[in-house]
Amino acid sequence: MSSPQQDRTASAVPAVQHVIPSYLDSTHLGPWGNYLQQVDRVAPYLGSLSRWIETLKRPKRILIVDCPIELDNGTVMHFEGYRVQHNMSRGPGKGGVRYHQDVTLSEVMALSAWMSVKNAAVNVPYGGAKGGIRVDPRTLSRGELERLTRRYTSEIGIIIGPNTDIPAPDVNTNEQIMAWMMDTYSMNQGQTATGVVTGKPISLGGSLGRKEATGRGVFVVGSEAARRIGFDIEGARIAVQGFGNVGGIAARLFQEAGAKVVAVQDHTGSLYKSSGINAAALLEHVAKHGGVGGFEGADPISKDEFWTIESDILIPAALEGQITEENAPKIKTKIVVEGANGPTTTAADDILHDKGILVIPDVVANAGGVTVSYFEWVQDFSSFFWTEDEINQRLERVMREAFAAVWQVASEHSVSVRTAAFIVACTRILQAREMRGLYP
Ligand SMILES: NC(=O)c1ccc[n+]([C@@H]2O[C@H](COP(=O)([O-])OP(=O)(O)OC[C@H]3O[C@@H](n4cnc5c(N)ncnc54)[C@H](O)[C@@H]3O)[C@@H](O)[C@H]2O)c1
Repeated sequence: MSSPQQDRTASAVPAVQHVIPSYLDSTHLGPWGNYLQQVDRVAPYLGSLSRWIETLKRPKRILIVDCPIELDNGTVMHFEGYRVQHNMSRGPGKGGVRYHQDVTLSEVMALSAWMSVKNAAVNVPYGGAKGGIRVDPRTLSRGELERLTRRYTSEIGIIIGPNTDIPAPDVNTNEQIMAWMMDTYSMNQGQTATGVVTGKPISLGGSLGRKEATGRGVFVVGSEAARRIGFDIEGARIAVQGFGNVGGIAARLFQEAGAKVVAVQDHTGSLYKSSGINAAALLEHVAKHGGVGGFEGADPISKDEFWTIESDILIPAALEGQITEENAPKIKTKIVVEGANGPTTTAADDILHDKGILVIPDVVANAGGVTVSYFEWVQDFSSFFWTEDEINQRLERVMREAFAAVWQVASEHSVSVRTAAFIVACTRILQAREMRGLYP
């Protein structure tokens, strides 16, 4: 099968006028604007379901919370937090919590919407949600981080729960933070509720394989995409931006399958080695030093140079908006596999297409995490836990089936894999919306 083509539906039809909610600045829509453009591209393929499309353009519920905590030095500091539930037609909300000083409402809205699409694209029975706190957690002590996490959890406790909305880790949050969230929610409820968050430590109802799941999913769909366009992972050159949970694990798995990790970038530096960087050694270095900077097993390169390195698969696995109109023209790769959420702007997407680069979108590529989160939630409800092999096998099956379904739609309609994923997902969401009907 040949590579699906990139659609230009959005540029072929007059720009759609969106109703912008009063709480956003219509001149600076940020990631939410990027998401709206993606919805515009899917609209022509929704048939009679398109009468429900406004559902996708408005989050169901937004909660903005103030989280005051006492710092170790006795002063009181306030942090702004969010929980956005974008759509819950197919099931409870599901999506991570991000701690970052630059988090905005627009960003959390977009991330929550991408969760709706992602959960529907891989067909797990969830809606989409996301949360965040405007904080640089590196500036807090462990005690301060715990107090902030507990206060935030109490504040959003009115809308989360095992059957309503289930948070998980995202950028700068981890299993310890999930353990504090689970404990806080449970104390407020008066009973242990392990299913309120996923990505927990194994000893508290976490799932084997969850930590590696997103990186593993990136590896599975990246390998499938390579196979479909006819090249071998053995010897393939991989470039990875972001060497954290997603990028680091994906790099290690590609290397174990015989690929060469030729370039890496994170917030501390960029590295290059044509014969391949030892991903396992680099993971150890990052665990010790907090970033790839200073690693001696590769040559340092500049931030801009990273985007010019020739590769077969490029994995953006850091933050959103990293592949832009500025750097997209310089990218020399065959496939972009989006490990991060929203790493490619719409304009950059078009540039990559013009260069003949296949883009496997975030909503499929990084869905491994939420898939194993779903397994964790199911295991928590039944208090019966699966082996790591069972989990990895089920994960691979879900990822391969989702990829195959989306690839087929892309080929049928001659659209990009991103638009195909949106067609599959938005059809499922809007079918649920239509079948449920409007309440009251
Ligand atoms: N962890 C998951 O299960 C999961 C699931 C789906 C999607 N994602 C997405 O994947 C991305 C990465 O998440 P993660 O869990 O690996 O986070 P992480 O905190 O473990 O790693 C983030 C990485 O990005 C790098 N980074 C941050 N700012 C950067 C910058 N300006 N330039 C270059 N690198 C930078 C960091 O140095 C780090 O290596 C995010 O977009 C997240 O939403 C994560």
